[in-house]
Amino acid sequence: MTEDRGSKEAGADRPLVRVERPARGPDGPLDGVALVTLDRPEALNALSFRLVAELADALEALDGDPEVRAIVLTGAGGRAFAAGADIREMADGTPESLAAKGSFDRWDAVGRLRTPLIAAVRGFALGGGCELAMACDMIVAADTATFGQPEVKLGVIPGAGGTQRLTRAIGKARAMELVLTGRSIDAREAERLGLVTRVVPAEETVPAALELAGRIAALPPMAVRAAKEAIARADEMPLSAGLAWERQAFLGLFASDDQKEGMAAFLDKRPAHWTGR
Ligand code: CAA
Repeated sequence: MTEDRGSKEAGADRPLVRVERPARGPDGPLDGVALVTLDRPEALNALSFRLVAELADALEALDGDPEVRAIVLTGAGGRAFAAGADIREMADGTPESLAAKGSFDRWDAVGRLRTPLIAAVRGFALGGGCELAMACDMIVAADTATFGQPEVKLGVIPGAGGTQRLTRAIGKARAMELVLTGRSIDAREAERLGLVTRVVPAEETVPAALELAGRIAALPPMAVRAAKEAIARADEMPLSAGLAWERQAFLGLFASDDQKEGMAAFLDKRPAHWTGR
């Protein structure tokens, strides 16, 4: 039984993650932007351990490249961003076997990136797919997108951040209802609850996310990364520690060339020329 299930992993002999660098917007290559695509549409981009490892490797490589200043993450096929962790792969797991694989560690790579990461969600973002989208910094959602943490219906709970990130995103009362019932929500409800940044017509999802990434990539990267980290720390730290961290980061940027350039350009009434230093 175990072998039958395992052997049905789709796409076993080809890469499950595609990277386009630079990403191409409607008007050509987008300076500083990479597009990463989960490429297992036949299984609604279910997040097998191999796919997650490939994704983590790809994102870490992009994060280490100074030419990449914003990343868009999406799912191939349009029906799903990702329909969750791979149920086929986990079905016969035990606490020991799943912990021993150590593969859930690779999920954490996404939350450690310094480069801004935007999820472009079309179709299903369920279970691990919703958790992956929430680990990104922003979510651009198609009007057809569906978000949810249905794990309770499988006899488990979210295992890659769902209980923690959903609660921080939409509050305890609403997170409780969604996680304890496994109910999915559509893009408009997700927008009302504050889970997503923006809802757009389905065909505009990736272009809109790329456009947003392009605007971020055009800004001074040290300030952008510091801003991302400061906001991320709001979830991690008590207010007083977060404020202290923010002040230090703010002061630290006054040692950068881009701060001098940005303020001089404002005063000279000319466009700034960023060097990333
Ligand atoms: N794992 C493995 N395979 C999956 C999958 C998943 N999470 N989700 C979909 N697939 C596969 C299906 O098995 C099917 O494959 P076959 O054609 O080989 O049968 C293919 O993708 C298409 O899916 P459906 O036929 O089910 O498509 P549908 O349109 O009828 O339904 C859906 C779509 C409602 C998203 C349904 O596929 C579904 O409910 N998927 C599971 C969602 C889920 O429970 N996710 C949570 C997983 S557990 C988790 O993520 C734990 C964690 O926190 C880390």
